Amino acid sequence: MGQFPITRTATPKARPSDDSLAFGKVMTDHMFLMNYEEGKGWFNPRIEPYGPLSLDPATSVLHYGQAIFDGLKAFRGDDGRIRLFRADRHAQRFDRSARIMSMPPLPVDLIRQSFDALVSVDADWVPRKAGTSLYLRPTIIATDVMLGVHPAHSYLYFLILSPVGSYYKEGVKPVRILASDSHVRAVRGGTGEAKTAANYAQSLAGQQDAAKAGYTQVLYLDGVHRKFLDEVGTMNIMVRIGDEVITPPLAGTILDGVTRASAIELMRDWGLKVQERAISIDEVMQAGRDGTLKEMWGTGTAAVVSPVGTIGYKGEDVLINGGTTGEVTQRLYDAITGIQYGRTNDPHGWTSLVPEMAEAG
Ligand SMILES: Cc1ncc(COP(=O)(O)O)c(C=O)c1O
Repeated sequence: MGQFPITRTATPKARPSDDSLAFGKVMTDHMFLMNYEEGKGWFNPRIEPYGPLSLDPATSVLHYGQAIFDGLKAFRGDDGRIRLFRADRHAQRFDRSARIMSMPPLPVDLIRQSFDALVSVDADWVPRKAGTSLYLRPTIIATDVMLGVHPAHSYLYFLILSPVGSYYKEGVKPVRILASDSHVRAVRGGTGEAKTAANYAQSLAGQQDAAKAGYTQVLYLDGVHRKFLDEVGTMNIMVRIGDEVITPPLAGTILDGVTRASAIELMRDWGLKVQERAISIDEVMQAGRDGTLKEMWGTGTAAVVSPVGTIGYKGEDVLINGGTTGEVTQRLYDAITGIQYGRTNDPHGWTSLVPEMAEAG
């Protein structure tokens, strides 16, 4: 682990009880910061007490949204040790997002080391109750103070941490999703495969409409034909028709989900047939009607898998697997969480132990 200057907080916060944790509402005591200036590169990596940033109102990110982030988790295993899940892959995706958003290449190793360093400083904040975790939110914002539209010459990297509660406090629960014929998330040549702020700002209206119509999430269809599945909310989507699992390909409009990649690898390990190909909403609805649509689920860091119990499209609802969690969905959930909490072996080496600080304070 890299050695970074650490300024410890003089006023540690009271830690919330594991039972009270939700998602992203409480932040830990420290944050990791690093600056970039053109000609100088990335400099001054450091850990400081968590606190507000001071930004000039003309800072470019506030106007044109040149911002990227990622999201990954640390888990306290049944053995008490802390593991990060696929930290290298998240750091690489963060770099990919930076390139798409015209940011300078990232020092991927340093970013990766910042994960270990900050989690190690705030190790006490990793909750212990079953299903809980510590969420890591690495972010980069453009910090030029100037109103011209151009790629910035200066940036700020910050990493913050938030203890989060179990996504499934009452067990894995299938959701109702609405395939939208009015909202589009991304198009080829755009920013769909970057984890950038604007993608989320523009997704809010579709989410609101779905909620008004009585659904939990929006299933986005492709922006050109309005026909092929893209993503569901902030998750990748997978469908099991007969004995085949189908998931949309990485063709520039969807995020290269780390859970998606992990699920595909596991299912192939298990001998299941997985196809990464375009799949139309008509094919899904028809399979729903004729009973060959066995399961459908979303994948993502927050929920791991989220079973789809009902899919709605153009006024028709199709019930999937009687509205209950399917067999492959449950198996993926058990396998991935087993690896994350160190309950089962980790054949692909997806987890890494966070070095514990020799001394605290
Ligand atoms: C738009 C979008 N798609 C998919 C995902 C799932 O990706 P991952 O499995 O890496 O969390 C996320 C969440 O990160 C997301 O925001």
